[in-house]
Amino acid sequence: MNLSSRLDAVAGYIPQGSTVADIGTDHLQLPVYLINSGLCRSVIASELNRLPYRQAENLATFHRLTDKIQVRLGDGLKVLSPGEAQVIVIAGIGGNAIIKMLSGSPKALETIQRLILQPMTGAGYLRLWLVQNGWRIGDETITEEKGRLYCVIMAEHGRENAQDKFIIEIGPRLAEKNNPLADKYFWKLYTDCQKLADKLSGAASPAAEEKALEVKKKLTRIKEVLAKNERKLC
Ligand SMILES: C[S@@+](CC[C@H](N)C(=O)[O-])C[C@H]1O[C@@H](n2cnc3c(N)ncnc32)[C@H](O)[C@@H]1O
Repeated sequence: MNLSSRLDAVAGYIPQGSTVADIGTDHLQLPVYLINSGLCRSVIASELNRLPYRQAENLATFHRLTDKIQVRLGDGLKVLSPGEAQVIVIAGIGGNAIIKMLSGSPKALETIQRLILQPMTGAGYLRLWLVQNGWRIGDETITEEKGRLYCVIMAEHGRENAQDKFIIEIGPRLAEKNNPLADKYFWKLYTDCQKLADKLSGAASPAAEEKALEVKKKLTRIKEVLAKNERKLC
């Protein structure tokens, strides 16, 4: 089975032989790939909702992998006992929902060695949460599918080297990379910020004025990051 470039980037961060928990598995593509490729010997695949849970169970049976893939029904990391998995994958879910899952299960997180997170929204908040909660961003990749950019964040226990809150928010490993998709990602952040700045121009309330100033500062900082690596603003 071929994975999408998004899930392929997720799989790229999974160490050989590790036990993975794929939280919010839905179509079971990642667990099936991890077993069939020989990357993992066993995977825990979880679902919050009954319909995708049943579908995932049926898919595990269809692929004759019920001895290697355990499908569980439940919310976030609550399906895990401490020490059961070394790596947690949460992909295709909003950043705030990912933060809720991680912060809701501190005990389960203690024994996890690596998080691989692919937030659909709110990547900045997620990066900040990770760094403020004892995780360092080991690496990050941007992938593109049908014109949409996706971040795949790999985090491990430890202290993040980057100290600058803004750099942490936009992705410290991405800021260090000289990579066309990272450039595209920063350029997208820039245009989103520019749109917000346009909306806020002529702001009437003090709160809107403050926000406008904040957005203006962000635009300057993103420009600096782009300029540092001689990235072109297109
Ligand atoms: C868009 S799918 C992503 C599927 C797959 N992970 C991927 O990246 O292609 C998101 C899935 O996460 C599940 N989900 C949402 N919140 C969850 C939670 N708190 N715990 C477990 N699963 C959850 C949903 O039911 C849905 O099937």
